[in-house]
Amino acid sequence: MPVADSDFLSACRCEPVARPPVWFMRQAGRSLPEFRSLRGEGSILDAVRDPELAAELTCQPVRRYGVDAAILFSDIMVPIAAVGFEVEIVPGTGPVVNRPFRARSDLTRLRLLDPVADTPYVSETVRRVVAMVDVPVIGFAGAPFTLASYLVEGGPSRDFAWTKKLMHSEPETWFALADRLAEIALASLRSQVEAGASAVQLFDSWAGWLSRADYERFALPATRRILGGLAPFRVPRILFGVGTGELLDLMATAGADVVGVDWRVPLDRAAARVGPHTALQGNLDPAICLAGFDAAGVAARRVLDEGHAAPGHVFNLGHGVLPGTDPAVLQRLVELVHATSPRRGAMGR
Ligand code: CP3
Repeated sequence: MPVADSDFLSACRCEPVARPPVWFMRQAGRSLPEFRSLRGEGSILDAVRDPELAAELTCQPVRRYGVDAAILFSDIMVPIAAVGFEVEIVPGTGPVVNRPFRARSDLTRLRLLDPVADTPYVSETVRRVVAMVDVPVIGFAGAPFTLASYLVEGGPSRDFAWTKKLMHSEPETWFALADRLAEIALASLRSQVEAGASAVQLFDSWAGWLSRADYERFALPATRRILGGLAPFRVPRILFGVGTGELLDLMATAGADVVGVDWRVPLDRAAARVGPHTALQGNLDPAICLAGFDAAGVAARRVLDEGHAAPGHVFNLGHGVLPGTDPAVLQRLVELVHATSPRRGAMGR
């Protein structure tokens, strides 16, 4: 079947599907033995610069699980590192920045991205993956708030104190930073789509730590510019964050075709919040997968049921696969989702 007619892309577009599509955030990762043996030691940033390796790591979960989409093996910090802003990705911790972004003058350290010169390996990986699998390839980038939080805090954060301080004490500096990060994300996503990605996901993982008012003022405008800038490509645009229950309606106004939902909000409630023209992605609690297939299967059936309330539903976890997850549980979840009848009344409409 041509990728354009795949159930994954159809569900994103709120069109009928033969069976519900499924993929898993962080499906390429430490829970897979073949990932651990191929990935080796060394920084993920180095692994991403090797298209042969990155393409193979991208394809592993597609083969093992039979998921409906491949997500590029990369990281949201790749374009940031590629423009020369010093960032390390520390295993078990995440992105760490030794000289955080704290003042307007720090903008000189964050130049625009030229994907051809700066990240040719990303496009090359996409091209290889497209040739290796027969499912759509999802390109991705970090949204400005989530990226900025790493640059400003210097690493993962619980309270986002420095980031919120910057927003509220120096809004002009904040907006200049958010604009720059939007330009970088947009350039990266364009290059991924031009190389063959047939959908994109914007990760605003930590947006749920903002109040509605702050999300609307400080995060949404730059997010909207990225998603709006991708409109001419006509590929589905997925916008995802954790803890965003009270932001879902705003996220649906950002230009997203699909809104990703974590496990806190049942999908029928999420559907009411995003309205009748936006598909949903989610939202099984990844921790339930640790309890084994019986527990995960019960929870997955509920997710599928609640997902019927949305005009399109892509089954996924509510956040990334946890490292201790048994691959057999994910594999059986894919079988369960595929054996479920699609949204009532959706076929043949
Ligand atoms: O399979 C996939 O989903 C594709 C791969 C992917 C990675 N990072 C690879 C990775 C994706 C989509 C990302 C996005 C990403 N990176 C996000 C948004 C998604 C989310 O989880 O909310 C964020 C916040 C980051 C930043 C980041 N990079 C974190 C928090 C970590 C984890 C640190 C750890 O070791 O626990 C990373 C490192 C990272 N990115 C790994 C992988 C497979 C693990 C370490 C490695 O292989 O070196």
